[in-house]
Amino acid sequence: MPKLDQRLIAVTHRIRSGVHADIGSDHGLLLASLLGSGRIDYGIAIDNKQQPFENSRKTLAGLAAEVRLGDGLAALNTGEADSLSICGMGAENMRSILQRYPDRVPAEVVLQPNSRAELIRQWAWSAGFWLVDEQVVRTTGKYAVLSFRRSPVGSSQDDPAYDDVDRACGFEFGPWLVKARDADLLADLLEEKSYWSQFGQLTTRGQQRLALISATIDGLDASHCERAKK
Ligand SMILES: C[S@@+](CC[C@H](N)C(=O)[O-])C[C@H]1O[C@@H](n2cnc3c(N)ncnc32)[C@H](O)[C@@H]1O
Repeated sequence: MPKLDQRLIAVTHRIRSGVHADIGSDHGLLLASLLGSGRIDYGIAIDNKQQPFENSRKTLAGLAAEVRLGDGLAALNTGEADSLSICGMGAENMRSILQRYPDRVPAEVVLQPNSRAELIRQWAWSAGFWLVDEQVVRTTGKYAVLSFRRSPVGSSQDDPAYDDVDRACGFEFGPWLVKARDADLLADLLEEKSYWSQFGQLTTRGQQRLALISATIDGLDASHCERAKK
């Protein structure tokens, strides 16, 4: 079994499926591990650069997998995979991959953006995917691992993850983490609040961020969050 870092181990725990596609596969270790542990039956590795493509081919040789050189979902047909992961990329790139071919995004998606997880939560909200689980893996950095499921066919219901939590706070910090009053999250918020509070004057973004942090710490005061959005 290939050795994965804590970040990718957390991703593997959220995947169990028939055919799984991994975009930005690079070293190919995620699919190799999923196949080795029997969590998936077949893997499709996709990377848009030659050397990572070759790395994936080498790692996955002889396994129930194929490796494709291509740009995101351009290399995957609609309905071909049951689930999808994209890990270790910036959120903007990830979001643009998902938005370019919305019909090709499978029903189960695990995303691990390297930063700005709020952009991914916002994408899911507009694309009709529900956030079913989230965690932050704390190693050399802090990595959000977000699991989504396409909302039920015909459902006009909003994502229930955001029930009982202000949406702006939920997008920013994670609705499940906020509702759970996650201890690490609260420690981060207190630290960041004290950072922003030392400045006399803040940019608009700084003011919004501080307002969202304060609202979350103050017990998810919804009206406070609404003011912060304006
Ligand atoms: C930093 S590596 C992450 C590798 C692995 N997913 C991980 O988390 O350890 C990002 C990989 O995504 C690939 N990549 C970036 N944009 C892509 C796109 N639009 N389509 C396919 N692969 C892409 C890069 O070539 C690179 O191999």
